[in-house]
Amino acid sequence: MEQEYPIEKQIEDLRKQIRHHDYLYYCLDNPEISDFEYDKLFKQLQKLEKDNPLFITPDSPTQRVSGSVVSSSFKQVKHSTPMLSLDNSYSIEDVLAWNDRVKKNLNNTNDCVEFIVEPKIDGLSASLTYINSSFVSGATRGDGEYGEDITENLRTIKNIPLKLLNNESLLCEIRGEVYINKKDFQQLNDSLLDNGVTKFANPRNAAAGSLRQKNPKITAERKLSFFVHSFGQVQGIELNKHSDFLNFCSKIGFPIQKDIKVCKNIKEVTDFLMYLQENRDNLPYEIDGAVVKVNDYKQQKIIGFTNKSPKWAIAYKFPARQATTKLLSIELQVGRTGVITPKATLSPVQLSGVTISNATLHNFDEIERLNVNIGDDVVIERAGEVIPKIIKVATKNSEGYFLPPLYCPSCKSHIVKEEDDVYYNCVNPSCPAQFRRSLIHFISRDAMNIDGFGEVVVDQLLKLNKLHTFADIYKLTFDDLMLLDLFKEKKANNLIQAIIDSKKQPLSKLIFALGIRHIGDKSAQILANVFQNIDKLISATKEELLSINEIGPILVQSILDFFANEQTLKMIEELKSLGVNTMEPEKDTSFSPLSNKTFVLTGELSTLTRKDAENIISSLGGKYSSSVSKKTDYVVVGENPGSKYQKAVKLGVKILNEKEFKELINAK
Ligand code: IVH
Repeated sequence: MEQEYPIEKQIEDLRKQIRHHDYLYYCLDNPEISDFEYDKLFKQLQKLEKDNPLFITPDSPTQRVSGSVVSSSFKQVKHSTPMLSLDNSYSIEDVLAWNDRVKKNLNNTNDCVEFIVEPKIDGLSASLTYINSSFVSGATRGDGEYGEDITENLRTIKNIPLKLLNNESLLCEIRGEVYINKKDFQQLNDSLLDNGVTKFANPRNAAAGSLRQKNPKITAERKLSFFVHSFGQVQGIELNKHSDFLNFCSKIGFPIQKDIKVCKNIKEVTDFLMYLQENRDNLPYEIDGAVVKVNDYKQQKIIGFTNKSPKWAIAYKFPARQATTKLLSIELQVGRTGVITPKATLSPVQLSGVTISNATLHNFDEIERLNVNIGDDVVIERAGEVIPKIIKVATKNSEGYFLPPLYCPSCKSHIVKEEDDVYYNCVNPSCPAQFRRSLIHFISRDAMNIDGFGEVVVDQLLKLNKLHTFADIYKLTFDDLMLLDLFKEKKANNLIQAIIDSKKQPLSKLIFALGIRHIGDKSAQILANVFQNIDKLISATKEELLSINEIGPILVQSILDFFANEQTLKMIEELKSLGVNTMEPEKDTSFSPLSNKTFVLTGELSTLTRKDAENIISSLGGKYSSSVSKKTDYVVVGENPGSKYQKAVKLGVKILNEKEFKELINAK
């Protein structure tokens, strides 16, 4: 009998069974077999594949976690169609006004408009590409045009099918949200804390941080989940409505949210929005609103898009959650740039299932405005689910408001406040509290991303006198780390490896990590794109810096001041000699029709601002220039063009109208 049942078929049958049970368990929440029976099938498949490695295919359920680690940054990939965003609304009136616009766009015909309302999952969007029904690649949204290739990390998410069910040859790009359940988020934060690593502020950050891990094994440990909400393309299937698309996705093995409602009219929509708002805490995952979509694809097509979002959909954002509690004390924190911020310690209170014991108070003007002091009962709010803030006094139990300090709580030097500034600053460059915060920023996820190097580790190393500049991080030895609490061989080795890995971070991350005043991650990326290596940035003149769009005079001065410091330059040289990368990898835009082409814009474009157009050109490998010459490849002409248009005609430069320009940038 065995001979009549070839190994390859045995393997494929086992895979089919496992996929079916995965589907029942992860998508329908309705398993048919016990974990024990499932494990038996899985082990059987593992054994057969181990004995017959030639039959292993990437879409096998055993192939979720690969051993390949991304060495520097994720590869950039262009989306088949842009991944757009949603317009937000904050009240039912906004939703009703949107409904009026929808009707107007449909020419006020008496056609019924059917809507579909879905919870707005608080995660991050990802696109999944399937060829012949097998998962082949996946990406983050990125800037909507380009995302990052996170295929290996997405593969580890258990409810993302690696092979679609009931269909052998589908080609599609499915989009949805990667998120983490509230319970798994809590567990993850508890375990991070146990290991001395900084907690994630909210489930969205946890999902994003976990998905962007260089090592898929770490992502696999993070218990991420996925829900479908849209698509880039689905080939060869006729679908008329979004609800049909979701049903179709559910049938082929994708997880779909349960609390979705097709509504016959706008009243049903607003009732369901209220229902979701009141019941959001009962869902196992965090939602920050609901999305209302026109259900019919023909109507969607008529209504159309702006350049950022579909006009046939709107996000209704829930109001922030509030609670009342007592203000126990106000702690003064010194930031990395010397700004002193008041932080409130509260009597612990439950807010949306989380215990809150701290809140921000922003600055001392805010304290005066709120007329708040220690002992008052205060109303707190969680907006965007990050750190809560105090929004008003509920009961005044104290006199007046908490006064700003005269001396730095860390180094005791005099506090300075510029007249036109709201901030109180410690201006002592050697203030230990500032250096501590700078270190914490340097190692953080969005900067050099040194895993396992949390605040607790920083504090211990400072105590041991091991850190005096950023460069000292790269001089730490295994023996230094073995001196730290709870550090054994494995943990020390892991941290040493994470420090070594961080040397490969691209220049944009290094610029951000250096903590130049006013330079956030976006401006750091722009500077890295423009200068490509740190030496060019260091030697950039004021004029060069000012000529960069988006880098205003305040940022320019801050960059010049930062690199004028001898100590800073010495430290950067030291970072280099310790092997820290100071270059920006080039984006692969060689396949782009804009690659190395020079563009000039004249006149107003109706769907793009000039800045947007410039950004698109440079992100696709093109160059932007302000004047027309023989070297110009294209002149893009909008409404009321200037003399550049005549010059282009005279020189015979190719002229594109807005439609042609958009066709060019959308060409693959
Ligand atoms: S539809 C054109 N449906 O919200 C965009 N998006 O703020 C189509 N999101 O980028 C997306 N839940 O990442 C859609 N049920 C849902 C969603 C959802 C969360 C995210 C999505 C989008 C962002 C816009």
